[in-house]
Amino acid sequence: MPDRAVHRILSARMPAPPPDARSLGARAVSVTACGDDGVILRVRPETGLPPVRAARFFMLRREDRLSPAIPRPFSLYRQDGPDLEFLIKVMGQGTRALAACTPGTALRLVGPLGNGWPALEGGGPPWVMLAGGIGSAPFYLGIEQALRGMDGRAPARREDLVLLYGAARRGLLYDLAAFQRLGVRVEACTDDGSLGFRGNVLQLLASLWDSGALPREVRLLACGPERMLEATEALARARGLDCWLSLESVMGCGVGICNGCPVPTRPDGPLGAWPNAKCCVEGPVFATSAITLAGAHAG
Ligand SMILES: Cc1cc2nc3c(=O)[nH]c(=O)nc-3n(C[C@H](O)[C@H](O)[C@H](O)COP(=O)(O)OP(=O)(O)OC[C@H]3O[C@@H](n4cnc5c(N)ncnc54)[C@H](O)[C@@H]3O)c2cc1C
Ligand code: FES
Repeated sequence: MPDRAVHRILSARMPAPPPDARSLGARAVSVTACGDDGVILRVRPETGLPPVRAARFFMLRREDRLSPAIPRPFSLYRQDGPDLEFLIKVMGQGTRALAACTPGTALRLVGPLGNGWPALEGGGPPWVMLAGGIGSAPFYLGIEQALRGMDGRAPARREDLVLLYGAARRGLLYDLAAFQRLGVRVEACTDDGSLGFRGNVLQLLASLWDSGALPREVRLLACGPERMLEATEALARARGLDCWLSLESVMGCGVGICNGCPVPTRPDGPLGAWPNAKCCVEGPVFATSAITLAGAHAG
């Protein structure tokens, strides 16, 4: 291996979990059905948390045996005083157990983990958020924080925030009305045309560009199925747009130990000292200048 490559590897910082992460007991406050197969789980941790940056996540499980031993990762959906809310699509054993909580069910949370969205400050091209199905979860808090201004950054103007929210059908556009109440521009689309534009979020974006309803220069944020994120990365690269992806990789530990969440880096990017980044500690949000999903489904 050339000396320079060895030096880059040795001098690279080992990724570690964030210093504010901790293990917290919590109680379920409520579970509300949402869409065809989702719930909003409201929990109250034993200790109140300071404001958590949008797109950071928690590892979550019930304390009883209904949950699998390995907790599951969920983006923070909303933070309301002492309570945290998670928007959860029921997929398998872990999410079924969480959806079956009743008020008072004991839970264990590890977090907040990961990095979160970049500061969505005002000024500059509009922020266009692409949400695919349950991938909408990290955007609610993102929009709230952008409108408020966070970390001393200028608040974004409502007209600079656009959410393109897509799903296979209307019942999988979770909590759409709550997003609409945030007062930013929300455009919905469905594959089957049951609500809004017929097509996916990238086709909707193309149609808004073609009709002049959106400027060509935008900053993209995306969260959703992997194929949607791959297509978003390709689009951003082809058009030279700034773009960040929040990845929902399958995770084991969530804190950088198990090597279960590798994301290929770009050798010429800021994480290029290592062939892979850990989604749980260096993500889940990555700039497309740092990683590449291209080829994830090759063959
Ligand atoms: C950082 C991060 C944030 C997330 N935020 C949310 C969120 O806000 N809301 C939400 O509902 N989900 C979110 N997820 C996904 C969520 O963690 C998984 O759906 C959950 O772990 C499934 O657990 P389970 O035990 O119910 O399903 P399992 O029994 O583990 O799996 C059931 C089925 O789902 C598939 N599956 C499992 N995990 C994923 C995944 N990550 N992507 C695609 N398919 C998967 C499995 O392959 C299997 O086919 C997030 C994931 C990450 C990494
Ligand atoms: S989930 Fe274990 S290292 Fe990322």
